[in-house]
Amino acid sequence: MKTLIITGASKGIGFQVAKMAAEKSYRVINISRSDAAHASIENHNIDLAAPDAADKFALLVEELQIDGHITLVHNAAELKSDSAANTATADFRHTLELNVVAPHILNQILIPKMTQGSGIIYVGSTLSEKAVANTYSYVVSKHALIGMMRSTCQDLANTGIHTACVCPGFTDTEMLRAHVGEDAEIIESLSTLSTFGRLVTPEEIANTIVFAAENPVINGAVIHANLGQVER
Ligand SMILES: NC(=O)c1ccc[n+]([C@@H]2O[C@H](COP(=O)([O-])OP(=O)(O)OC[C@H]3O[C@@H](n4cnc5c(N)ncnc54)[C@H](OP(=O)(O)O)[C@@H]3O)[C@@H](O)[C@H]2O)c1
Repeated sequence: MKTLIITGASKGIGFQVAKMAAEKSYRVINISRSDAAHASIENHNIDLAAPDAADKFALLVEELQIDGHITLVHNAAELKSDSAANTATADFRHTLELNVVAPHILNQILIPKMTQGSGIIYVGSTLSEKAVANTYSYVVSKHALIGMMRSTCQDLANTGIHTACVCPGFTDTEMLRAHVGEDAEIIESLSTLSTFGRLVTPEEIANTIVFAAENPVINGAVIHANLGQVER
């Protein structure tokens, strides 16, 4: 049986990926602080930014006896408003722990258990390859994920394990709405930044992630999924 392990599937994009994989008969394991409300998703609550995350995850993998064909989706992340000029180091470190160090930890534990056909999909962002003001820690972390993905591709040559980084544009989830303070006017203005005049849906990103996971020809690729960004 194929196993999909995903971080941050309690809501948003991750939930749609987990649901889609369950419908495709994967065993689906979600790691987040709260549960995904779906009968076919196995939930395990770990705070991936906490110092004990590595120990807890290693124990879980042993308990669940996960090995074989594994799809690992690094999806959980946090987005704070902060700046290169005044971000407390503890806050910067927290974002890196969740957005970058947690994928590293999961890779170290799971790659030795993966067989040919397995895949590692990173969820980046438009902000993996450009910066906008006041999203400093997030921009740094999402750029780092592309480096991690490219190194993963090179270092896993000849293993039959592939990798890609899917970079969503403005997607209608809690993360986006919370970031703009639930302001309907800002949401509307963000919609005009895509050539389709709307936000991306979490389902569209989930489709792209599952497609990347199931097609090893996409190895080492950065895939932007943003409906075409309007350039100004
Ligand atoms: N929405 C967008 O416009 C957009 C654009 C570009 C990229 N992305 C990327 O897409 C991915 C998913 O984002 P989303 O919009 O779906 O966000 P979301 O709705 O806020 O979901 C974030 C997920 O991460 C989990 N999470 C947060 N902190 C965690 C922690 N400390 N430990 C474990 N899990 C944690 C949350 O679960 P719990 O709260 O239950 O722990 C939740 O399931 C992220 O990598 C994000 O950067 C999103």
